[in-house]
Amino acid sequence: MDIKNIKSQFPIFSKKINNKPLIYLDSSNSSQKPLSVINRLNDFYSNEFSNIGRSIHTLAVNATNKFDETRISVKNFINAKSKEEIIFTKNATEAINLVASTFGQQNIREGDEIIVTELEHHSNYVPWHFLRNNKKALIKFAPINDDGDIIIDKLKELITSKTKIIAVTHLSNVTGTIVPVKEIIEMAHKKNIPVLVDGCQSAPHIKVDVTDLDCDFYAFSGHKVYGPTGVGILYAKKKWLEKLPPYIGGGAMISEVKKDKVLYAPLPEKYEAGTMPTAEVITFNESIKFLESIGMDNLMKHEKEITNYALEKLKKINSVKIIGNPKNKAGVISFLIKDVHPHDIATILDEYGVAIRAGHHCCQIFHEKMKLSATARASIGVYNTKEDIDILVQAVENCRKVFNLK
Ligand code: ALA
Repeated sequence: MDIKNIKSQFPIFSKKINNKPLIYLDSSNSSQKPLSVINRLNDFYSNEFSNIGRSIHTLAVNATNKFDETRISVKNFINAKSKEEIIFTKNATEAINLVASTFGQQNIREGDEIIVTELEHHSNYVPWHFLRNNKKALIKFAPINDDGDIIIDKLKELITSKTKIIAVTHLSNVTGTIVPVKEIIEMAHKKNIPVLVDGCQSAPHIKVDVTDLDCDFYAFSGHKVYGPTGVGILYAKKKWLEKLPPYIGGGAMISEVKKDKVLYAPLPEKYEAGTMPTAEVITFNESIKFLESIGMDNLMKHEKEITNYALEKLKKINSVKIIGNPKNKAGVISFLIKDVHPHDIATILDEYGVAIRAGHHCCQIFHEKMKLSATARASIGVYNTKEDIDILVQAVENCRKVFNLK
């Protein structure tokens, strides 16, 4: 893979931040955008803008068709069976809220149980917390071990006749753990329990096949997959989307409105009320084309090489502690430096042009479990190189020196 060519497709890497070349290691938070994506957004607003699905003038028909093209690309990208199973939301968080709210309305009663895990980021916990509060339900947490792997046997033990849904991340945004979701889904389906997979971190890093996984719901965000902000994707099996009630009411999600009744639009519009992030969804097609031009297999191979290189180098620094050691890991590396607060690490690294995230990474449950208040996190994207890691390592080595620590 010609990684130099990939980096040169991202305008931000030709800029200097603090007079230094940008070493961007915060892709788990949000990825940078290739020029094709930036240009498409500008192009759509400059030359093609119209709302979709309402008017019949040329611009409206073109925009409606382009919006549908993205839906088909997303369907192919995650290997869904039909485009009606792809719902656009504003982000993965909204997609998970959609499921928690509509599934909860119909299927959760007082005393019912929802299983999540100690790896979840807040987007795959707080929506279930709302449901717990509204319905007097119970949330059970599948525990993780010190390596950051979910203890599958313990998860199994949590399942009872009251378990109504399991919501689990596919890839941890703190430890990089790749969760064996297929195994969890098989286990759950044997008891007729549906599974929501939070794909926020897996969609950018690994090849996703929702048909093979057989998950009931899969949610991810466009902005972490080299796309614009404002685009979330919910994949749901058709049987669920047909059965569950709509989430947000308004224009575009109806087929008939009378004073005494409202009939809803067929899928997928039933779940897409109001004006959608039209330009962003249309632009998101370019992000998928960008990933397809690389190939997910090549991307995975490249990111693995960079991740292994980073781990090997960071582990050699005495004062560095890597958080977690999962069996199967992607390019997310959380770490500590002895006697240096993670926020100080991030501030010092920033002076070297190295952008990382420090804090709880929206995963307070994980940090509490590990008895940590915060960690520093370097997360890898397709554009990162071994040279980026060398600069990260150099900056990490200097962290303790700044505080006169040996
Ligand atoms: N966007 C959050 C992160 O940085 C969850 O991982």
